[in-house]
Amino acid sequence: MRGHLQISNLTKSFGGLNAIRDVTMALEPGVRAAVIGPNGAGKTTLFNMITGHLSPTAGSIRLDEGELIGLRPGAIVRRGISRAFQVASLFGTFTVREAMAAAVLSHRQRLFDLIGAFPAPAAFEHARHILSLIGLSDVEKSRCDTLSHGDRKLLDIALALALEPRILLLDEPTAGMGRDESRLMIDRIYRLWEAEGMSLVFIEHDMDIVFGIAEQVFVLRNGALLASGEPAEVRRHPQVIEAYLGSAT
Ligand SMILES: Nc1ncnc2c1ncn2[C@@H]1O[C@H](COP(=O)(O)OP(=O)(O)OP(=O)(O)O)[C@@H](O)[C@H]1O
Ligand SMILES: [Mg+2]
Repeated sequence: MRGHLQISNLTKSFGGLNAIRDVTMALEPGVRAAVIGPNGAGKTTLFNMITGHLSPTAGSIRLDEGELIGLRPGAIVRRGISRAFQVASLFGTFTVREAMAAAVLSHRQRLFDLIGAFPAPAAFEHARHILSLIGLSDVEKSRCDTLSHGDRKLLDIALALALEPRILLLDEPTAGMGRDESRLMIDRIYRLWEAEGMSLVFIEHDMDIVFGIAEQVFVLRNGALLASGEPAEVRRHPQVIEAYLGSAT
């Protein structure tokens, strides 16, 4: 499972505003990477371009040498990049297991429609495997619309995993959670990464989490890449300290 992502000279302008400016970054397969930066730095815009939800003004995004720019979001998912969206709520009266099985089935059938349908029992099996990895087995028979906020976010991630990504993007997975709930969420995400071995790229404001689990950190400010590297390196970067971490960190 490869999955080398190379972003080169990426720029996105909204009218006169450069939300992303000339960003170049590389992600090795299997890495845990964090994207940090103040509000409005361009983090979500960067994700939106990687997933094909926004088209860049300039630059290139290559996955294992294949250009992604110009592909539709569904095609990018099939290349191996998926992200957790707030989709669990769409499954309303489905149970957690049904929602997952539906996601697995639709993905597998889209991939393998040339060689025949993926059998439903196998889809349920795979769905249950992901649910147990992410710690949702206890609620697999519950209706999606009865889940707690935290479980719903876990299910969003599980649904993204049903798409069998080589690179999983998470935009603020702990947003709106208290400290304990955030910890639990991060533990589960870490466990998934250990089990599945995909690259993980997450946007996160909590620096304890970032420096606790990222192997590589990218810092954006005003759309530009201010610094990148291993956490210890980034943490010592004078401009990062000044611009973002503050003197207390
Ligand atoms: N569709 C859009 N049209 C116009 N401007 C946009 C659009 N999307 C984002 N922007 C602007 O681009 C800049 C970067 O926004 P973005 O949402 O990427 O920041 P962010 O780093 O994710 O911030 P936050 O931490 O608040 O989520 C902001 O100034 C934002 O207002
Ligand atoms: Mg954002």
